[in-house]
Amino acid sequence: MSAHQVEGNNINSDWWQWEQEKVVGRQYPVEPSGVACDFYHRYEEDFELCRKLNNNAIRFSIEWARIQPGSDTFDQAAIDHYKKILTAARKRGLKTFVTLHHFTNPVWFARQGGWRNANVINVFGRYARRCAVEFGSLVDAFITINEPQVYALMAFLAGLWPPNQKSPLSSFQVQFNMAAAHRHAYDRIKEVTETPVGLAKNIVWYETDPYRHRVHDRIAAGLLNFLETDFYLRPIAKKLDFIGLNFYFTHRIRNFRFHDPTDYVSDLGWWVHPGGLGTILKNLKKYHLPIYVTENGVADGHDILRAHFIRDMVIACGAAIHEENVDLRGYFHWSLLDNYEWHHGYGPKFGLVEVDRERDLDRKPRRSFEYYAEICRENRIVVEE
Ligand code: BGC
Repeated sequence: MSAHQVEGNNINSDWWQWEQEKVVGRQYPVEPSGVACDFYHRYEEDFELCRKLNNNAIRFSIEWARIQPGSDTFDQAAIDHYKKILTAARKRGLKTFVTLHHFTNPVWFARQGGWRNANVINVFGRYARRCAVEFGSLVDAFITINEPQVYALMAFLAGLWPPNQKSPLSSFQVQFNMAAAHRHAYDRIKEVTETPVGLAKNIVWYETDPYRHRVHDRIAAGLLNFLETDFYLRPIAKKLDFIGLNFYFTHRIRNFRFHDPTDYVSDLGWWVHPGGLGTILKNLKKYHLPIYVTENGVADGHDILRAHFIRDMVIACGAAIHEENVDLRGYFHWSLLDNYEWHHGYGPKFGLVEVDRERDLDRKPRRSFEYYAEICRENRIVVEE
């Protein structure tokens, strides 16, 4: 999970501020996040769901805008609140994987130019160090930044997220600043704790059409795979204790266009292809680092695909471990709850648990919840006789 998507009332963040605005001609999300899933108050109930899922770990993010509401102010009450959340997770036997930046920023930081500003390296480092001091003993792994390239593309190139820019230059600059900020934050965290530190990297896999294996498509796929993977990971690899992999989809390329099969697609139209996950995991072996799948999930409001999806993806993980010797240490399904899917609002449903927005945000486990709970209990795929 991530803070803005589930907590509710994240009022000091750039996202919240943007969701309330109504400037003619500016791009906005389908709906504002509002109370989200009220995870801020209902975390005990939600960790109970994790227990029922037989999970042994939970990933969520700490909201920078809450911890540091002003450039020189840290909010002790917010810090204490996250300590309570972390303790509640640990009490239920959940290892805690904590993201420090998951797409949202404090308003003051956005006003100073946000991630385009080179000074961000020190600013983010200070916040990261404070998190290490306050939470280090309660955290099993820190993830500095979630999906830096996705953030840079959505906010600075596609213009769909605040600050809604469409500038290739800014988008590159933000990618570089995030890589530098990660490296610096890594060192700052290590000044105070031994807790492993990684980053969550979204990787899309690009493959060529197996029936039309043309040279120009192979070159295009190779270039895109390089930009998604080594271009970003190489420069930060020395400052990673593990790689966090967020995997959602594969694109098939034919004549410089995406030609994805349409037989196995999510509600968002994303092609589900477990082979893509297997290939990426194999490709990441060269880094000689432990890997965690930090996100993998499917928008599936009717819960038709989710159990199959989980089964296929977990089999791909098992094959990577047992047949390819990939040092894969864990798998986090995205997501526990239906949550705020950014500019799409509450439409796409990624949850193992439905959140009834008409009835007090009631949590209603889907059928796939039972299936996943069984896999987690047995630590293997159970095949029915
Ligand atoms: C993000 C999540 C998001 C998910 C599904 C990932 O890129 O980290 O915040 O909900 O994809 O779109």
